[in-house]
Amino acid sequence: MLTKTSPEIGGMGHPIKRKEDLRFIQGKGNYIDDVQLPGMVYGHMVRSPYAHARITAIRTEEAKKLPGVLAVITGEDLAKANLAWMPTLFHDKQMVLATGKVLFQSQEVAFVVAEDRYTAADAAELVEVDYEELPVLVDPHKAQDTDAPILRDDREEKSNLIFHWEVGDRAATEQQMKSAPVTALVKAFFPRCHPAPLETCGCVIDFNSATGKLTAWITSQAPHAHRTVFALVAGLPEQNIRVISPDIGGGFGNKVPVYPGYVCAAVAALTIGRPVKWIETRSENLQSTGFARDYHMEAELAADKDGRVSALRVKTLADHGAFNAAAQPTKFPAGLFSVCTGSYDFSQAFCEVDGVYTNKAPGGIAYRCSFRVTEAAYLIERAMDVLAQELKLDPAELRRRNFIPPEKFPYPSPLGWSYDSGNYQGALDLALEKIGYNELRKEQAERRERGELMGIGISSFTEIVGAGPSHTFDILGLKMFDSAELRVHPTGKAIMRMGTKSQGQGHETTYAQIVAQELGIPANDVAIEEGDTDTAPYGLGTYASRSTPTSGAAAALAARKVREKARKIAAHLLEVSEEDLEWEPGKFSVKGAPGKSKTIQEIAFAAYTNFPQGMEPGLEAVHYYDPPNLTFPFGTYIAVVDIDKGTGEVKVRRFVAIDDCGNIINPMIVEGQVHGGLTEGMAIAFMQEISYDESGNVQGGTFMDYLVPTAVETPSWETGNTCTPSPHHPFGAKGVGESPNVGSPAAFVNAVVDALSHLGVKHIDMPLSPWKIWQILKEKGVTQ
Ligand code: CDP
Repeated sequence: MLTKTSPEIGGMGHPIKRKEDLRFIQGKGNYIDDVQLPGMVYGHMVRSPYAHARITAIRTEEAKKLPGVLAVITGEDLAKANLAWMPTLFHDKQMVLATGKVLFQSQEVAFVVAEDRYTAADAAELVEVDYEELPVLVDPHKAQDTDAPILRDDREEKSNLIFHWEVGDRAATEQQMKSAPVTALVKAFFPRCHPAPLETCGCVIDFNSATGKLTAWITSQAPHAHRTVFALVAGLPEQNIRVISPDIGGGFGNKVPVYPGYVCAAVAALTIGRPVKWIETRSENLQSTGFARDYHMEAELAADKDGRVSALRVKTLADHGAFNAAAQPTKFPAGLFSVCTGSYDFSQAFCEVDGVYTNKAPGGIAYRCSFRVTEAAYLIERAMDVLAQELKLDPAELRRRNFIPPEKFPYPSPLGWSYDSGNYQGALDLALEKIGYNELRKEQAERRERGELMGIGISSFTEIVGAGPSHTFDILGLKMFDSAELRVHPTGKAIMRMGTKSQGQGHETTYAQIVAQELGIPANDVAIEEGDTDTAPYGLGTYASRSTPTSGAAAALAARKVREKARKIAAHLLEVSEEDLEWEPGKFSVKGAPGKSKTIQEIAFAAYTNFPQGMEPGLEAVHYYDPPNLTFPFGTYIAVVDIDKGTGEVKVRRFVAIDDCGNIINPMIVEGQVHGGLTEGMAIAFMQEISYDESGNVQGGTFMDYLVPTAVETPSWETGNTCTPSPHHPFGAKGVGESPNVGSPAAFVNAVVDALSHLGVKHIDMPLSPWKIWQILKEKGVTQ
């Protein structure tokens, strides 16, 4: 149990308002486009209109003639400096500017630099590129056909297969499948979608030729990793590169990869000798930067007649587009997809994934997701509903019969994970009670009698976050630990710098609350800094809900180191031995004499003015935290939907979300995270898809087609929590940021399929647009 601190201290569990919002709501944030430097110029990309074409000529003369244009950089120019290609964060390489051919629509072909943004954009129109169209590969199912065009002729392997990856016991799983009394199969496509953060990607790059220092303001979720990649790509000494990630207007995984625009702006800054700004347009963001999902999945479950599951077999085809630009831990080409056994106690499982190239924008990034856990959670939660339907069993009951029981934790999953803790039944029970499940089922039966379409969908998902332990997790060899450096000033105020980088999650508030909890210094007295590689300790950044499990843990352990030093100083001040002291947040007291005490502020002052002889002055500590395991948050979400028979429109009537992320730092922030993630999950389920026509033209590349939900479609989310602390995390917390995005799509789809199940509908692929639903209703004779 955590000691409760006073509201003045504001340690863990206090719903204190977000400190950073003071500047955000006043319009005083400092986003990338707010960065203005003397003499700054602007870059604009020339992009390919074709998905697959040979470049036969690029003519830049007309563009260069436009007054105000300073340079037009092409792939050929970059090739001379050996910079035409760059490494991706997953052991592939990617063209910075196309040389030879283009591989997706909107690919970067040339970079125009001009005195102002408009001139740069106008000049980009004057760059003439001759293309010779090549056969286009859009369907990933055809990528391995013998007559498929080989897209990546730069690779030694003359194939479109990026990887084949498998885990689990194939033979034992097949054996169980064969002998099982019941099996259920679902083929589910998780469409390509895009994080579409409010702020697009961008950078300002400044090179100081006198000092040799390159300063890069980048919309980066992982500033240190980007600095190291810059050093390796550009050959600049790492101490001469400073990456500053200023305020970020949403990242969601979109701002993890290194994009060609950053490299082009750096090359331009180095050659022109002036700072260069590049800001992506909205369409460029949607059409060319890190997309997510695009998983074609198949799951087969084996069970007995009572619905007790025994085996799971999963086969998946992953469309990674033209370059494998996913940021993925090295050992996991399909991310953490092997958590696809979910919350259920399977004795055998086998999972295989083929990743392929197609003529589409590159990526496969983890959109508010711990490396493919969203796809995994969706698949297993859909599959459980298909099995329930097959057995004519209530989906809540089926889940109850198969949950990993609390006494089995730490639970070794058949696909190799060790789940730290869980109480899945507890979350399900609370969700059922809160939504009034039994009454809703009665209402549904009555409505069905009247010909109305109402559905209830459950998702009892398990997450896997906090990448990750160094023995298993690295990105490009960089181990995935994270860090905190805490310095307490003489007046008892403090600053803590972190290896992570908030993009709106409220880190400036919650990390301060961790220090408040551990040291009793009020959260308001602790400044948090992230995102400047010259000052922050090395860390792998913020994505995959890893901040609390990694840097949060580092913050607590750095604070505990400070507390140990504070104890020595308190003993010196109170003239007692350290063993005679007891701690409560904010002060050390002499045991049995509570009146004799020293506050943390008094101790901090003494650390600079009156410390014991021989002790190193000051009060600070740094901690690099290498987690022993990941954390496994979980929850149950229940959606209630009504379908309009005339239009096929689905209305989400109610949605109850019960989350368990262990001990909570700030309940208000957690609730905010859940609201945001559910809204994104709803958008994915009902309205968003990036698809391509057969020529590789991107559909859904603007907000006219790629719909963003408004308050009109969004229901009033009903949230709640259970608390099952992580046994290995220093303060029992698990991550939460992505849970709602991971868990909710299955709840929405399960609800819609449930509403139509009596018509024989077993599965519908997202997005569940009115048009798609209306067609089904028409086919089933429900509507004209
Ligand atoms: O890595 P990211 O910040 O996206 O995800 P996270 O670690 O799940 O944290 C999201 C926000 O929720 C942060 O402000 C956390 O400090 C907060 N949080 C919390 O208050 N309690 C938890 N148990 C987990 C997260």
